[in-house]
Amino acid sequence: MGERLFIFDTTLRDGEQVPGCQLNTVEKIQVAKQLEQLGVDVIEAGFPISSPGDFNSVIEISKAVTWPTVCALTRAVEKDIDVAVDSLRYAKRKRIHTGIGTSDSHIKYKFNSDREEIIERAVAAVTYAKKFVEDVEFYAEDAGRTDNEYLARVIEAVVKAGATVCNIPDTTGYCLPQEYGEKIKYLMEHIDGLSSGKAILSTHCHNDLGMATANTMSGILNGARQAEVTINGIGERAGNTSLEEIAMILKCHKHIGIDTNVNTTKIYPASRMVSSLMNMPVQPNKAVVGRNAFAHSSGIHQDGVLKNVGTYEIMNPKDVGLDDNSIVLTARSGRAALKYRLEVLGVAVNDEKKVEKLYQKFLALADRKKEVNDDDILTLAGADSADNHAVKLDFLQVTTGMGVKSVASIGLDISGQKFEAAATGNGPVDAAIKALKKIIMKQMTLKEFTIQAISKGSDDVGKVHMQVEYNGSVYYGFGANTDIVTASVEAYIECINKFKN
Ligand code: KIV
Ligand code: ZN
Repeated sequence: MGERLFIFDTTLRDGEQVPGCQLNTVEKIQVAKQLEQLGVDVIEAGFPISSPGDFNSVIEISKAVTWPTVCALTRAVEKDIDVAVDSLRYAKRKRIHTGIGTSDSHIKYKFNSDREEIIERAVAAVTYAKKFVEDVEFYAEDAGRTDNEYLARVIEAVVKAGATVCNIPDTTGYCLPQEYGEKIKYLMEHIDGLSSGKAILSTHCHNDLGMATANTMSGILNGARQAEVTINGIGERAGNTSLEEIAMILKCHKHIGIDTNVNTTKIYPASRMVSSLMNMPVQPNKAVVGRNAFAHSSGIHQDGVLKNVGTYEIMNPKDVGLDDNSIVLTARSGRAALKYRLEVLGVAVNDEKKVEKLYQKFLALADRKKEVNDDDILTLAGADSADNHAVKLDFLQVTTGMGVKSVASIGLDISGQKFEAAATGNGPVDAAIKALKKIIMKQMTLKEFTIQAISKGSDDVGKVHMQVEYNGSVYYGFGANTDIVTASVEAYIECINKFKN
């Protein structure tokens, strides 16, 4: 047994800040329970003062999980801390995560302040939080661009005030691995409370330049004993360090002598659950959890792997929970098989009515597609929530081809009333959306439209992610269908169903 690295998961806070990734409370509880099974030490459940939804999620997650510490984020502001304390009232183990920007740029432009006042505010926040909880983590926002000498003064002061964990975020993803490692080393060497074990350092790296994992590893190798990570590396802008990469690096490089409590066989189900609930596709070549992470395609590699798997494989797919006998379901598969497969993929469906509804959708898909794979099943499970929406697609017919204008006719059911319209366009999606806009005459603009590549055959389900701007807000929608034009219209309709007025 080596030294212990604590895993602090911020999928439900930093990860959930990404536009389009918002989860409702029930979904957040589902993710939190999965994180508990995965074995993370700390779950950052939200930023309670930011919205009633976040406040409520921290309350419900606190009730739902048994042993991981539940953490709530605050600014260095008493009101934030009061609200966070309130939201953590049911947590068996609780932590307040408070902090302030420490780089010159944050001090000058965000706070119009000076270095001494920032230290005072940091100490005041930690001292105040300590009145309510024993476990207080302090973050020095933009520590990556804060000069080491000043950063050490800030950290020294907050450790004296009682901080148990000091988070050194590379908020902008700017640092080089060597630079970040040196920062951690400098702090370890210059702050008594760290060498004496009164507090530990935590890494929190962003991936703007693709260095989040390298920076986190460099921090760990130089003394940090907590890593802040997210499932699939989701997070602000280019994302955060991904949990699965850090867990598997430490597992593959045993000689480092640092262990986590992560049950790595639960990584894949957690990755799938987060991707499906957050409608955030995992890039196929993503380390550890991407579709191609264990696929050997070149002849030379395949030949080597057949002779000895160790020639090209440094981890066993089973160690990350990839089940290579994945069952493919067909129209002849029963409800039990569908339910079992959903459970394997990390989606527990206990309500029999919901299983029945999913099963009927599954049969409809299996009629169109001979084999229904894991992606399809997760998509069906994710799309299930669309049922009680006011606007529904009744029918869609499109005529398109080369050298002709596309024509679409569409039927919508709006709160039980039927509407029909037709339009032409420069392509099938354009025609269909124009027809839809003849029925729903709102000033809305398509801002983003992504079609996820079909991977497994021409009969596969195509997935569409859309963002539509309406009345100053941007709404996110998702559609999945074997017909990509229908998927596009479904995504557009999902956005409309979310419009606030
Ligand atoms: O990136 C960052 O600095 C953060 C802090 C709020 C911890 O997310
Ligand atoms: Zn962050």
